[in-house]
This record gives sequence, structure tokens and C-alpha cells, in this order.
Amino acid sequence: MLRSPSVRRSFATAVSLPSKRSSGWGNLKDQDRVFQNLYSQHGADLKSAQKLGDWYKTKEILLKGHEWIISEVKLSGLRGRGGAGFPSGLKWSFMNKDGWEKDPRPRYLVINADEGEPGTCKDREIMRKDPHKLIEGCLIAGRAMNAKVCYIYIRGEFYNEASQVQTAINEAYKAGLIGKNSCGSGYDFEIYLHRGAGAYICGEETSLIESIEGKAGKPRLKPPFPADVGLFGCPTTVTNVETVAVAPAICRRGGAWFNSFGRENNSGTKLFAISGHVNKPCTVEEEMSIPLRELIDRHCGGVRGGWDNLLGIIPGGSSVPVLPQKTCGEVLMDFDSLKDVQSGLGTAAVIVMDKSTDIIRAISRFAQFYKHESCGQCTPCREGTSWMNKMMARFENGTAKAREIDQLYELTKEIEGHTICALGDAAAWPIQGLIRHFRPEMEKRIEGYKGRHGGNEPYAGGHEPEKDMRSNLISPGM
Ligand SMILES: Cc1cc2nc3c(=O)[nH]c(=O)nc-3n(C[C@H](O)[C@H](O)[C@H](O)COP(=O)(O)O)c2cc1C
Ligand code: SF4
Repeated sequence: MLRSPSVRRSFATAVSLPSKRSSGWGNLKDQDRVFQNLYSQHGADLKSAQKLGDWYKTKEILLKGHEWIISEVKLSGLRGRGGAGFPSGLKWSFMNKDGWEKDPRPRYLVINADEGEPGTCKDREIMRKDPHKLIEGCLIAGRAMNAKVCYIYIRGEFYNEASQVQTAINEAYKAGLIGKNSCGSGYDFEIYLHRGAGAYICGEETSLIESIEGKAGKPRLKPPFPADVGLFGCPTTVTNVETVAVAPAICRRGGAWFNSFGRENNSGTKLFAISGHVNKPCTVEEEMSIPLRELIDRHCGGVRGGWDNLLGIIPGGSSVPVLPQKTCGEVLMDFDSLKDVQSGLGTAAVIVMDKSTDIIRAISRFAQFYKHESCGQCTPCREGTSWMNKMMARFENGTAKAREIDQLYELTKEIEGHTICALGDAAAWPIQGLIRHFRPEMEKRIEGYKGRHGGNEPYAGGHEPEKDMRSNLISPGM
């Protein structure tokens, strides 16, 4: 679907709205990178940030008002970088429903800097090295939503990141960039840094709101959505660090510029964090829709032992299903391409696993994580994550039965979509991916157990026949 070229007036100049390319995504040029200091070549202080273009004409952007900012963000095609990929311009516009001016309640922008998703390390890079992009982004996003107060909720373990962000906030206050009459625009905007205590569930937006309010981090039922009843019962939008940090670049260079990257409906540049069995793990900004294989070969020196040594890749953090080698060679790194292969872009944390990986053990470890992090409010998640964890432990050591593979799959389906928040889905999806693509591995593990035990199957629940014979029934894990 090609878009016809048109001309549009953006912030600085008249730009043409280019057609979307139908191939050749990737190889982002340096001048198109939003995060110019990802590798610490420059300081993270205000002066260094200003040299790289931050805080340039911010006053003029603010004076253009909320409708202009939101329309640029809509035009940019930006989708939330926190995992779900909801269109950001639309989400921000929910704060400005008809009659919002008459609502006397304060309005809040909350930045989600919890970054607890295993494998993900992108927001912390922004906060350590480019904190002024985040602070300026907060001001612009806040202006777009008519919010005058912003909380940055940062993961408890991020001590260095919190120090950097607080320093940047202090610098911005001192320079009159935020606070009363921010940037001389007449707009008042306060920013507070709030440190969390390290629970993964506090990254879920309503749980995060509860946590700021001083309560236990347990997600709320929606509706009402935070834009109607959020922090302290007031209109609130929770949005990810990377999402707001690209907003100033979008406003300065134009939504059309950002939209020119990536495929239709998958626009922009994106931070990818690649870890695991690659020669050079890294976090890199690339064009959305870059082929997964190119991302790894170009920026990570390839898979350890070569592409043929690849077992599978988890393309978007621990919550999304693993992809087998063949699919990894074909898929593009964007929301829709990964959805088409029954996985997801998630946080774009790419976990590469070569053939030395025990894939059942890897997914079993995730099951343990989700069991530990479930807040316990809903029965399918609380009981299901425990149950899946126990079953996965048995699949790992081969003391499961082959028929339990289908039972486990069915269990994941009972959890998926039946819980208050998406942690239930996040726990279910990696196991579904394992069964979808690595079922023979699971069967082989069970056969291996039988081979080592004189052809005996374990009893139900993983009880080992020999131990039973010795009247010494021991359940797994004891
Ligand atoms: C269990 C769980 C953990 C989450 N953790 C994070 C997180 O650490 N950071 C984040 O930005 N979003 C996280 N999210 C997603 C948020 O709920 C929310 O969708 C996101 O902050 C919205 O930002 P965006 O619109 O910029 O994507 C999590 C969601 C769930 C269900
Ligand atoms: S899905 Fe799990 S983590 Fe989310 S609210 Fe329910 S019990 Fe808590």
C-alpha cells in the first residue's frame, strides 16, 4: 500500500510526505538517529544535550498548542514503545475529550521507566546517556495532554539512571526549561522522579499508578481507563520512556519525517536491545521493519557459530513467543510482521539462542519468573502461573507425560485473556511458542527419561517409579 506523495507544512519547513518504501528497511543513517548519545560519546549534561539539538525551539513547540503537537504525533505514526504498540497520538488525545477545560481535577502525565521485562535494556540507556531527551519529551507530551504535573516512575534498581535523570531535572529547573513558565512559554510544568521497589508488575500502568499512590502494586480493572480516572482519581496517561523521548524530534523534524521510516502502520526508528548468543550484544537504534537477520548480522556480528547454529529467537522480551530459525530468517522487526508469525515486537528485546540452548529450560525459567511476579489477584493467573511452573519443571527434567503437552497448552489458553492485566498473557505466550515450535524436543526429553529408567514412565505428577518402589515417594522439587 503506497501512499501518494503530498506536501505538508511542518514545524520548521515545508516537507514532502514521502511514499512508504516497499522494501529495503534498515541501515539507518547517523543523521536520522534520534538518540545521538547512545554510546556515551558526549556528556549527558544540559550543555552537551543542547549541542546535540535538545531543547532547540522548545518554546515555539509549546506555543503551537496541544492540537498541533498531537496532530504531528498522529502523523508520525508513532506507536507506544512500552510493549502494546497502541497509537500514541490517539492515546494522548484521550486526555483532551470534549469539555476537558471544565474539569477542575489536576491532570497527570506518568512516565513508565520501570523496564522490568526480562531481556529489555533500552529505556535505561536513554536515562543514563540522553536524559534531557526524556525531560524535554515529558514537557512536550505533558503540553499535548494539558497535564501540568509529571511523575517519572523509575525501577528501584536503577540507581545510576535515577541519579542521571534527577540531575537532568535539576538542570532543567535551573535553566527555566521546566517549572513555572517553562521555557518562557507561559506553561507551568512540574516533574517528580518516583523510585519504585523493583516489582515487575509495577510496570503495568494501573499497578504503577497504585504504587505511586503508596499502595501495593496491584493492577486495577479497566474501565475506567486512566485517562478518565487515573492517578489520585484524576485524568492520567501512562507512557513509556522511549515513546516520550522521541516526541521532541518528531515535533522539530516533523511527523512526516518520522513516518518515512518503516512499513505502513509500523513507523519510525526504534531501539532494539539484542542479547544472548550473538558475537556483539548491543542496544542500537534502527529503522522499524528491518529484517531480523539483518539486525543481527549488521549490528551484532552475527549469531555465535554462524546463522546455521541458530536455534531460535525471542524477538520482543520474555513475554512474546519464541520463533524457530527458519522464521527468524524471514521476519521483519515490526508490530505487524511479528504478529503475523504469532509472536510480537513487545519491547524489541531480541534474545538470541544458539543450538547449545536448552530451550525447555529457558522457557521453564520464564515460567518461574511469571509465577514469582504474579500479584495474585486473579485466579487464572495466580493458580495458572504456579501450575505452569510446576509442569514446566517436569518437562525440563523429562518427568512429564507426552499427553501433558496438550494439557499444558490448554492451560495456557485458560489463562490467556481471562485476567485483569496482561501478565497472564505474558506468562502463557512463551509456553505456547515452545509447544508450537519445539514439541519434538519436549517429547524427546520424556523419551530420554524413559530410556534412562528401564522404559518406565514417571507416575502422574512426576513421581519417579523407583522411588515409589522404595516406598519413598518424593514429589518433584522436594
Ligand atoms: C506485567 C506488565 C509489565 C509492564 N511493564 C512495563 C514496563 O516496564 N515499561 C513500560 O513502558 N510498559 C510496561 N508495561 C506496559 C504498560 O502497561 C503500558 O502499556 C505502557 O507503559 C504504555 O506506554 P506506551 O503507550 O508508551 O507504550 C507492562 C505491562 C504489563 C502487563
Ligand atoms: S493477571 Fe496476574 S498479575 Fe495481573 S492482576 Fe491478575 S493476578 Fe495480578
